[in-house]
Amino acid sequence: MDKKDLAKKAIEAKKFSYAPYSNFHVGAALLTDDDEIFTGTNIENSSYGLTMCAERVAVFKAISGGKRKFKAIAITTDLEEFCPPCGACRQVMNDLCGKNLVVILVNSKMEMKTFKMENLLPHSFGDDLLK
Ligand code: THU
Repeated sequence: MDKKDLAKKAIEAKKFSYAPYSNFHVGAALLTDDDEIFTGTNIENSSYGLTMCAERVAVFKAISGGKRKFKAIAITTDLEEFCPPCGACRQVMNDLCGKNLVVILVNSKMEMKTFKMENLLPHSFGDDLLK
């Protein structure tokens, strides 16, 4: 599975975005260490604060499907700019997918920008502090 294929899965997932309030459509595709893909899209709510981001939908689907190890996540929107994940999603991805997760931002032209999770959330809070 190369980056481009994962990016395409995120773009496909974006089609199912439920965003009637913001009209901001986000798609995500999370690759497990055994090469399965779990997709997610943002799901808004009339009680706005209950909205769930695409990245967290993908992560929660994968975790609830029994997956615990991940290689990469692709995230895309309709913007020409690269859209980085919000702070809440960074915390969840760092915690559940690990510092080595490759985060691939995909813009509307299918260009990609790649980060490592640990660089998107330095000095993070994590389970090591709870032991
Ligand atoms: N959104 C995501 O899906 N992921 C992010 O990382 C940032 C924001 C969604 C939430 C909301 O439905 C819309 O984008 C506008 O904030």
